Amino acid sequence: MSSTPDGDPPEPGEVREELAALARDLRASLGWHRRAGAWSVPGGASPRPVAVEAAPAAGTTTPVPSALTAAAVALDDPPPALRAAVRSLAVIRDELGPCTRCKLHKTRNKIVFGVGPEPATLMFIGEGPGADEDRIGDPFVGKAGELLDKMIEAMGWQRDEVYIANIVKCRPPGNRNPEPDEIAACRPFLDAQIQAVRPRVIVTLGRPAANVVLGVDAPISTLRGRFHDHRGIRLMPTFHPAYLLRTPEKKREAWGDLKQVIAELDRLGVPAPRPPRA
Ligand code: URA
Repeated sequence: MSSTPDGDPPEPGEVREELAALARDLRASLGWHRRAGAWSVPGGASPRPVAVEAAPAAGTTTPVPSALTAAAVALDDPPPALRAAVRSLAVIRDELGPCTRCKLHKTRNKIVFGVGPEPATLMFIGEGPGADEDRIGDPFVGKAGELLDKMIEAMGWQRDEVYIANIVKCRPPGNRNPEPDEIAACRPFLDAQIQAVRPRVIVTLGRPAANVVLGVDAPISTLRGRFHDHRGIRLMPTFHPAYLLRTPEKKREAWGDLKQVIAELDRLGVPAPRPPRA
């Protein structure tokens, strides 16, 4: 509640007006969240709970193919009070809570939220935790993580200077690919993390991460090697480090992708803290 410029307590009328304005903002935010399908308090990153199959069009018997994904549901723009509300990583982690939004919670040990500073110039997005990450609770700490650390260092950065997250925060059993409902449940949290971290460049690792973030369905070979736009952020898809461990002859191409990222960060005026490997 504000006070007058000279520090005197506000008049009762001013207090009433300020409270009324706050109530209006809150009502608008709550309404927007309800239309978005949220079941928790405003600011919560809960996805739409259930997608509804469209009814058959009049005169037809075939159901209209429906856009079943949460992302495809058209929403009005959030109200101004909410648009401004970029949440901190700590708040987003709080909203995620001991998540049970999808079936992965039944088999996971630890939620792997993501690590790194906020903001961070550079953000890496992988697919989902493996066994080591599930045990420890941090992304990319196993063999693939060791290679990712080397890739980051070759670019002139340290692991703790970049933000690292995954498209799903719980381990898919047996390291299978995450399923659409699991990805949809986690997506609002990944989006909120990207907003909080405000990276200048995102590097997606492997096909699922590139496809999910870009909203496409394309082989990594057709996506990597060039920049894409993700909501105004430059995004470079490259190979997943686990794939590079199995297919070392592809490392040269991956390094080519990362060199483009180095050059782009230079161009944006946010160069690596240390000289990248030549
Ligand atoms: N692979 C991923 O995609 N993410 C991790 O965190 C670990 C391995």
